[in-house]
Amino acid sequence: MAAGFFISKSVAIVAVVLGLGAVATIIALSVVYAQEKNKVTDLGTTDASTASTASTTSTTSTTSTTSTTATTVPTTVPTTTGVLNAWDKRRLPTTLMPEFYEVTLQPFLTPDANNMYIFKGNSSVVFVCVEATDLILIHSKDLNYTLQGNFHASLEAVDGSSVPSISSTWLQPTTQYLVVQLDSPLQQGQRYRLFSIFTGELADDLAGFYRSEYVDESGTNRVVATTQMEPTDARKAFPCFDEPAMKASFSVTVIHPSDHEAISNMPVDSTRQEQIDGNAWNITKFQTTPRMSTYLLAFIVSQFSHVCNTSENVLICIWGRPTAITEGQGEYALQVTGPILNFFERHYNTAYPLPKSDQVGLPDFSAGAMENWGLVTYRENSLLFDDAYSSIGNKERVVTVIAHELAHQWFGNLVTLRWWNDLWLNEGFASYVEYLGADSAEPSWNIKDLMVLDEMYAVMATDSLTTSHPLSFLEDEISTPEEISEIFDSIAYSKGASVLRMLSDFLTEDVFKEGLQSYLHTFAYGNTVYTDLWAHLEEAVERNNLRLPSNISDIMDRWTLQMGFPLVTVNTLDGSVTQNHFLLDRDSVVERPSVFNYTWIVPITWMTQDTMGDRQWLTSVSETKPEFKVSSSDWLLLNLNVSGYFRVNYNQENWDRLLDQLSNDHEAIPTINRAQIIDDAFNLARAYYVDVTLALNTTRFLSRETQYMPWQAALDNLAYFKLMFDRSEVFGVMTKYIQQQVTPLFNHYKTITSDWTTIPSGLMDQYNEINAISTACSYGITECQDLASEYFRQWQQDVSTNPIPPNLRSSIYCNIVATGGEAAWDFIWERFEEAPVVSEADKLRTALTCSPLPWILNRYLQYTLDSSKIRKQDATSTINSIASNVVGQPLAWDFLRANWRKIFTQYGSGFFSFSQLISSVTQRFSTEFELQQLEQFKADNEDIGFGSGTRALEQALERTRTNINWVNENQQKVLAWFQAETASR
Ligand code: BES
Ligand code: ZN
Repeated sequence: MAAGFFISKSVAIVAVVLGLGAVATIIALSVVYAQEKNKVTDLGTTDASTASTASTTSTTSTTSTTSTTATTVPTTVPTTTGVLNAWDKRRLPTTLMPEFYEVTLQPFLTPDANNMYIFKGNSSVVFVCVEATDLILIHSKDLNYTLQGNFHASLEAVDGSSVPSISSTWLQPTTQYLVVQLDSPLQQGQRYRLFSIFTGELADDLAGFYRSEYVDESGTNRVVATTQMEPTDARKAFPCFDEPAMKASFSVTVIHPSDHEAISNMPVDSTRQEQIDGNAWNITKFQTTPRMSTYLLAFIVSQFSHVCNTSENVLICIWGRPTAITEGQGEYALQVTGPILNFFERHYNTAYPLPKSDQVGLPDFSAGAMENWGLVTYRENSLLFDDAYSSIGNKERVVTVIAHELAHQWFGNLVTLRWWNDLWLNEGFASYVEYLGADSAEPSWNIKDLMVLDEMYAVMATDSLTTSHPLSFLEDEISTPEEISEIFDSIAYSKGASVLRMLSDFLTEDVFKEGLQSYLHTFAYGNTVYTDLWAHLEEAVERNNLRLPSNISDIMDRWTLQMGFPLVTVNTLDGSVTQNHFLLDRDSVVERPSVFNYTWIVPITWMTQDTMGDRQWLTSVSETKPEFKVSSSDWLLLNLNVSGYFRVNYNQENWDRLLDQLSNDHEAIPTINRAQIIDDAFNLARAYYVDVTLALNTTRFLSRETQYMPWQAALDNLAYFKLMFDRSEVFGVMTKYIQQQVTPLFNHYKTITSDWTTIPSGLMDQYNEINAISTACSYGITECQDLASEYFRQWQQDVSTNPIPPNLRSSIYCNIVATGGEAAWDFIWERFEEAPVVSEADKLRTALTCSPLPWILNRYLQYTLDSSKIRKQDATSTINSIASNVVGQPLAWDFLRANWRKIFTQYGSGFFSFSQLISSVTQRFSTEFELQQLEQFKADNEDIGFGSGTRALEQALERTRTNINWVNENQQKVLAWFQAETASR
């Protein structure tokens, strides 16, 4: 299609040329059309609320079966009762398949006369008619159309032949469609072009085509127009067949002020200038994309700067606020992107599919990052890095997020799952290989080991609830945008990653890669279901003569189609080994049925004190493995590297020997398994499989441990004790015990860093130094608190020179706020407001939640609803952090209860993560009274519901019930154990 045609269309919108493609036969205009028409021709008065009112009107009139329907629905609309009309269904019919879009968009970066930011646009889509139909359904959300003749869109045949005339068009807001009803059917095999002209709001809602703002170095407010389409907001930018399997090519044109630059998925094709309404505009047209899904489109208009390099013919650029880029904050991302892209090219045995790779750090961004093909978008803190301000954790975040999003450029973008029910495979896969990609860029970090703590143990807490869910959903279980949003959860990401890691481990990485590569080659530019991957892996298994107890889909179905995971219990006296579904509350009833009866096919690696064994498979509920019977002086350890997604329990004798080994020479047990012993023991104690004192005993050796993984496992588990007991007498002795254990670690790091002046070498070492400081300071070790006060004193003397090493800032800042009263809070707030690097601002913002003063915390909670104080993207994490403060928790709970309706209905899920809010605010709940309050909260809001937080609420209820029982059963024992441990020294 000639470029000129569409450029002239874009000019046409500005000139508001109506009547293009008008159809001669016009049926009686309904009230609906009149309303819609008013809306578009009187753009100036449109705002979000009137738009939605108007939309609601049209829904009711077209979907209801009351007598008003007769007067408002054109006679051509079938008025079936009982059966859903196609436009009332969530999924598009498969009658029409889009092939090619030409989209022109013009964002206005200054508000209009009504103080609204808007964009104007027009778009055409060429689709092929696969099956004759007289109905065109195309997604459209919150867009106002300029009518052409009497209709929202016009239609032509690509070959110029005649087309059925349009009998009516209308918007269907509930299902987010623009409906085009034709007089007679389209012809099978024919190509048609549907054209429309529209405007939308360039809102600050972080969804669709939206605006982000920042203040530049001269104090001027700058507006950026940017996009976030996934999962279902491309339809908010232009009408489109907004389903991942409806792949097409896109030719995007952006009209923007000439002092701004536009970027999109593809490189620029042409640029020209034009005077529109007396202003100079640039018209930037991008090269046509390969076949791709709508959710991966992106376009950005900004005054950002960039730094670039070229790696193997791919132009790589990092974009951000000019000051950030000038200060070099894009350098680290630039440095790691080339190696990561090369790593994935080798890993997938497939060249990077696009000519360029842009990555942009945005001041306002809802998720962490988004894998738009060729134009990846990030929160600033996940892309930009500055040695002077950012910690090693910030650095790890940047490299892993980049690796995650670049992994999607092939897995997800080149080959795309057909529907959202298979989301776990897309996100789980990227969450697994992000560690491999990051490892290739930072090989000295041993970053792959972190998967055990950060993905597997993190998600097992949720996956051991009866309110968990399987990785896989059926296609028709996931339909609405809320249902789609809800499944972006830790199960999809972290369990998905853990299960794929296990699969890759028992296949070996080479066989896994071979199958993966043939999957990608076969389905490039197409769509798949998860079984397609299994089929290609199975072929690789056969080619390599790998011996497995069953085929891949048999093994994997157990892990993906049923929720939860097994507890493997071994008895070393006789070698018997059994499995059962691990539940945090052993007495809870699992209502969700499973065809596999909650049994798994479990790959078990193992060692004894002096042998490394071959992998064993547990394929039934109970078996005897002679290898697992060990002599009375030996111990047995299952799940080396913790590569299997399960927990392990032993007979008491074996536990005793493992604990002896830890106390005599802990290094005889591999580091990851030292973490495993702690995490398994604590979780087994949560579920009453072992006594809580056994779990606590696994922490004794920590006074001699300096490694990060075991320490982190212990701190994570003791954090649960803190949540349950920090309002009870247990906390006094628990504090004493933790002080006792952490003091040697604190001294160790003090020594090796020459009094905190040098930085330990490895990633894990740096993390454990941070653990030492944060634990010591928060549990009241005087020397640590003195250190914090001294830093604070120096800093106050010279505000422009922060003396605190970046790695230690989060802990020290928190301590300053926790102990310094209002003055310290104000000091940190001022630093927050002027922070030049977002990772620094994040640390300060979080530290502000450490205050013990209720009035300060309450005021801070209010700030989260004021985006001039706390950016919308940061509201959820700020509230979460306040809720993890023992003083803040009840305040956050009151705040959430009081504001739920507002948060839920007015702000929406682009702004708040409902599921995170609910789980963080309720995490301490452990009394009957709190349970009642939570049930009341559920009842009070039943009418509006909990949207993407629905499952999180059920999980919170289950967790609360489990906590109540656990605290009742264990509090006295725990108290006695801490007393004994601290009295003996
Ligand atoms: N595809 C997601 C971004 C996304 C998440 C879009 C939820 C829509 C809804 C992206 O690939 C992603 O997973 N981002 C993560 C970061 C990643 C390193 C785990 C995120 O945003 O948290
Ligand atoms: Zn992802």
